[in-house]
Amino acid sequence: MKQERGNFGSKLGMILAAAGSAVGLGNVWRFPTETGENGGGAFILLYIVCLLFFGLPVMVSEFVIGRSARLSAGFAYHHHAPTPLWRWFGRFQVLIPFLILCYYNVVAGWTLFYLVEAVRGTLDAVPAQAFAPFFADFTSNPWLQVGYFFAFMALTHAIVVQGVSKGIERFSKVLMPGLFIILLILVGCSLTMPKAQEAVDFLFTFDFSKITAHTVLAAMGQAFFSLSLGMGILSTYASYFKRDAVLGTSALTIAGVDTAVALLAGLMIFPAVFSVGVAPDEGPTLIFIALPSVFQSAFSSWPWLGTLFSIAFYALLVLATLTSSISIHEVVTAYITEATHCSRRKAASCVTIACFALGLLCALSFGPLKDVHLWGMTFFDLFDFVTAKLMLPISGFIISLFAAWRLSSTTWEAELTNDGTRRFPLRRLLFVMLRYVCPIGILLMFLNELGWMKLL
Ligand code: PHE
Repeated sequence: MKQERGNFGSKLGMILAAAGSAVGLGNVWRFPTETGENGGGAFILLYIVCLLFFGLPVMVSEFVIGRSARLSAGFAYHHHAPTPLWRWFGRFQVLIPFLILCYYNVVAGWTLFYLVEAVRGTLDAVPAQAFAPFFADFTSNPWLQVGYFFAFMALTHAIVVQGVSKGIERFSKVLMPGLFIILLILVGCSLTMPKAQEAVDFLFTFDFSKITAHTVLAAMGQAFFSLSLGMGILSTYASYFKRDAVLGTSALTIAGVDTAVALLAGLMIFPAVFSVGVAPDEGPTLIFIALPSVFQSAFSSWPWLGTLFSIAFYALLVLATLTSSISIHEVVTAYITEATHCSRRKAASCVTIACFALGLLCALSFGPLKDVHLWGMTFFDLFDFVTAKLMLPISGFIISLFAAWRLSSTTWEAELTNDGTRRFPLRRLLFVMLRYVCPIGILLMFLNELGWMKLL
């Protein structure tokens, strides 16, 4: 089964590609929303604790599993534990990103639409109260939905098809610095807004009375999603890492970049939100309904700056979603290449076509298919629920148990000491976390997300 594999050519490229996967809508949209809903600074502090003690061990595990097997997530588990159970788990690892791709790229299409409309100046012409109907009209228009979904799938395809170093790495090296520059400029603008101080206080004042069991579990869920854990991405990317890459340090750097982007996104969004008087816990519609009008009124004295700000903001969202989208596409493409030995072009085309066909159900969920419900959900909500709330926690739970109890200590040793050339610090802590804390934490998070922990 082993064949010539792609590799990341440089350490910087490898870090930027993995950070590109981690940095996505989760940082720019989900993190500020969760922070807003869960009381600001206290949530951020909890988030960082969860990231260190719970996200990082699982991330390192996925790295170890993928790099030692030199196979994508679909085959790596079976390589380490050749039983039917682990063959099936590998397939499960591929099914998750496949299903995520089907609906994530619909939302990604929305970011592209808003970028195009910002550039055309349409967003400036919409009155503030009209953004809700504007958004509803757009999402219920089947042609626009399918068109933008298709356009984003095509963009993702065009990068993945070029391979690991010539496609994913090369583009990440351009897209990620671009994203950083736009983000820093936007944060700079935001911090000059009238209520910037209030926003900074909101983000960095730690009011511990706001911490409840629910907040802890929300922070854990956010850390899990934001680091792209349990989606097969990290183990697949790790299979392209070189032998001299240091897995622990790489995981820390990627988590650091991811957190920095999330915090900067908070500093970009909240000053604008506070200055205009929108509630910080506006929820999922924040970036498509509340923010466009926030930009307009925040810069009402210099409308051209408002226009530039919204163009830059939606360009940022497009970059962030694109680097995440290529990473989920890659997991499935790599699996098909390994399973069938076909060319990357063929494998990637199969993935793109299949995702596009299935994703149509999600893209049309707000228009022609809005009344089609399965278990009380539209197709879009169903895909989101099944992947984010069911499959991801199950996957994370199994990965931490696999890493702790099934993966051989020789593999751990070789991967974390780089074949005996480095120390393996915090070994005991890592295993205690993986054996007990992570599985129990993920289980509680799972019950919480299903709404079974409301009693707490
Ligand atoms: N970490 C990503 C984010 O923050 C999660 C993700 C990655 C989702 C890839 C989908 C695809 O958005």
